[in-house]
Amino acid sequence: MQGINSPVSVVVLVSGSGSNLQAILDAIHGGEIKACISAVISNVPDVYALQRAQHANIPTRVLDHTLYDNREAFDAALQQCIEGYQPDLVVLAGFMRLLTPAFVRQYQGRMLNIHPSLLPRFRGLHTHQRALDQGETSHGASVHFVTPDLDSGPVVIQGIVPVLKEDTQDSLAQRVFKVEHVIYPRAIGWFAEGRLAMRDHQVVLDGELLKQPVLYSLPVGEDTALSESEQHEKK
Ligand code: GRF
Repeated sequence: MQGINSPVSVVVLVSGSGSNLQAILDAIHGGEIKACISAVISNVPDVYALQRAQHANIPTRVLDHTLYDNREAFDAALQQCIEGYQPDLVVLAGFMRLLTPAFVRQYQGRMLNIHPSLLPRFRGLHTHQRALDQGETSHGASVHFVTPDLDSGPVVIQGIVPVLKEDTQDSLAQRVFKVEHVIYPRAIGWFAEGRLAMRDHQVVLDGELLKQPVLYSLPVGEDTALSESEQHEKK
């Protein structure tokens, strides 16, 4: 837990590549976020996110959900594991598990998630393909407080990107990642500075109730630029 002047303690839950974890680590190391990551916990063994954490000398734990009889048993073990670190904030960074309401209630107001769509559009999975199928002209990602209903908690900040005619699911996902890696560290930074809270299912930022999420767009030029791997593929 946070002591006087000590940085906010964060536990990060992951299931995959951990590019958001990396963006958060980079922001901490760059001094943009006054927080320390006490542990990274994965429900999937051997994912790249664990290597990223180990590289940054952060303790890692694996709780393989397939070894538990049911969701309640897994969530109880997860909670026990998290409590060993006494975090001020729990960050879901690509954690691909539904959480039980009882678990979520333990961390209400101090658990954040990032979802790859402009909520309330496209809750759930396959958001990029659904955005393409629906002919959306813009898409993006949302950071929100976690509440018991899936992807329905109050939204803090959204990153918006254009959808281009030639986009595929992958090219759109790459563009959305660019905003994810800006907005998640930013929201965590606000929380760490004591500027961000949830009250009555609403977001409070700097003491004011947010009427709508903070919006972020990539600088002009970067919003349609191809990533290095995409350029490579085009050659
Ligand atoms: C991101 O698209 C995030 O929005 C979603 O899961 C993905 C995680 O990617 N919740 P990474 O593991 O952070 O690279």
